[in-house]
Amino acid sequence: MTTIGVPTTATKGAAMPATTDQTSTDTHTDTDTGIYQRADVYHDFYHARGKDYRAEADAVRALIAGHAPGATSLLDVACGTGSHLRELAASFGEVVGVDLSAEMLAVAARHAPGVELHRGDMRDFRLDRTFDAVICMFSSIGYVCGRTELDRAVTNLAAHVAPDGVLIIEPWWFPDTFRDGWVGADVVTAGERRISRVSHTVRRGGTSRMDVHYVVAASGAGIEHFTDTHVMSLFDRADYERAFHAAGFRADYLRPDAAGPGLFAGVRR
Ligand SMILES: C[S@@+](CC[C@H](N)C(=O)[O-])C[C@H]1O[C@@H](n2cnc3c(N)ncnc32)[C@H](O)[C@@H]1O
Repeated sequence: MTTIGVPTTATKGAAMPATTDQTSTDTHTDTDTGIYQRADVYHDFYHARGKDYRAEADAVRALIAGHAPGATSLLDVACGTGSHLRELAASFGEVVGVDLSAEMLAVAARHAPGVELHRGDMRDFRLDRTFDAVICMFSSIGYVCGRTELDRAVTNLAAHVAPDGVLIIEPWWFPDTFRDGWVGADVVTAGERRISRVSHTVRRGGTSRMDVHYVVAASGAGIEHFTDTHVMSLFDRADYERAFHAAGFRADYLRPDAAGPGLFAGVRR
């Protein structure tokens, strides 16, 4: 499994408050190019394209209220640039983010000021405390390679869930919902910049491989082109449910938005 674009070195974002760095050495990283090193472009692109983090946060808040009423603490793993954290911060006394990418965390520190952030790998980070809600959104779980790593990641996320808490995971596509050969294309305007993103995704055995080309243009800076490749596991719904079960949880699968891959919400058995 390869994620091109996640940094290999344990550098910290300079603007990050209250951070720790606990990355493992066996990451999926094999390049220093790609969108997770261009966190500013990631952030501007998805916001300008209309990814509705507020509506997603509302859906997550409702799921938490249903599964862990009275929740006061939340951990977002693979939090990226902090867009869900920013929306959810006012609803919980304690909100914390973890991500593998120092660049994504540096943008999160600016976008969700005051939120505690840690650099770590979802498979083995340790915060030595639990949260009423742990979330892992935008299919980030798909970056783990194979069922053993899925179990490891879900078990580690579950270990950070308080006894009556809830674990919410947005999966990547299942093999039967994945669309082989999918082409995505968007051009957005974000402040001074125009960003074009074109992707092509194919099935490769039990994984999907998405090649993405970005063209970023700004009047003062000219035109920049870069590419990245995301290899993600196509786990079955049953694989996720088994991973929750192995961690001592039972999970409901919900698909509130038919255009998306759905959400798992798990509580202890
Ligand atoms: C699609 S982005 C989602 C970011 C954010 N949750 C959002 O909704 O915008 C995937 C994120 O997963 C992070 N990531 C990839 N592999 C990871 C791992 N093994 N542990 C922690 N974070 C990881 C990347 O750095 C990136 O920020």
